[in-house]
Amino acid sequence: MRKPMIAGNWKMNKTWSEAVVLAQGISNRYKSQWDAVDVVLCPPTVDLKAVHSVLEFDRSPIHVGAQNVFWEPSGAFTGETSVAMLDEVGVTHCIVGHSERRTYFAETDEMVNKKVLALVAGGLVPIVCVGESLAVRDADTYLDFVTKQVHAALAGLDSEQVAKCVVAYEPIWAIGTGRTATPEQAQEVCQAIRSQVAADFGADAAEAVRVLYGGSMKPENVDGLIAEPDIDGGLIGGAALKAESFVQLIKACV
Ligand code: 13P
Repeated sequence: MRKPMIAGNWKMNKTWSEAVVLAQGISNRYKSQWDAVDVVLCPPTVDLKAVHSVLEFDRSPIHVGAQNVFWEPSGAFTGETSVAMLDEVGVTHCIVGHSERRTYFAETDEMVNKKVLALVAGGLVPIVCVGESLAVRDADTYLDFVTKQVHAALAGLDSEQVAKCVVAYEPIWAIGTGRTATPEQAQEVCQAIRSQVAADFGADAAEAVRVLYGGSMKPENVDGLIAEPDIDGGLIGGAALKAESFVQLIKACV
């Protein structure tokens, strides 16, 4: 049985003080039933240490994730953050290849793969984002498009490493638009992602890898999505910015 995951991608929201308030609000609502779910908070880089401190003080099992990382270990890479830097402030997970980074910061499949390899080598769990644009969906080539992204992102890992990874299917047309994929649409692609992992790394890795859905997931639509056999949780944007709605999503997975 795969453990469900609910990860909040705060994107470029919440200053240091706001991040502390939100993390504390989520931590205050913690119940032991949540231990059936891996909960991950992914604040902006400058807030990582503060969010970790809040959770550490509360002895909370909630994990902290980054939204991005650079693959080189150190050096003259102005503005970038290494795996070791994330690790030392208590970060255990990292979103990689979000469509916003692919679109606005020109991240390619090759760059995503380098980040995945660096994270895994450093002992962090990558949450690898894949997903098609509306044009690709309308052209009916989305399964091919998404499975190629998965194949490229995980290249060079072994099957035991892949088993610990997380893939998030985030159709671009559903992100921040209020237009959610139907459970059937999301399941179709999440199943294809798992089949691609099986083809590349074998049945055990495919059975273990967690596949999340992301894109306007909220308390009103979470139940139908996570009821699907290949959807193991969610990567949440807007609904992760308020403690109450985020907690409702966690409860739906318990
Ligand atoms: P929304 O939940 O705001 O649509 O964002 C989804 C997302 O991009 C999470 O990474």
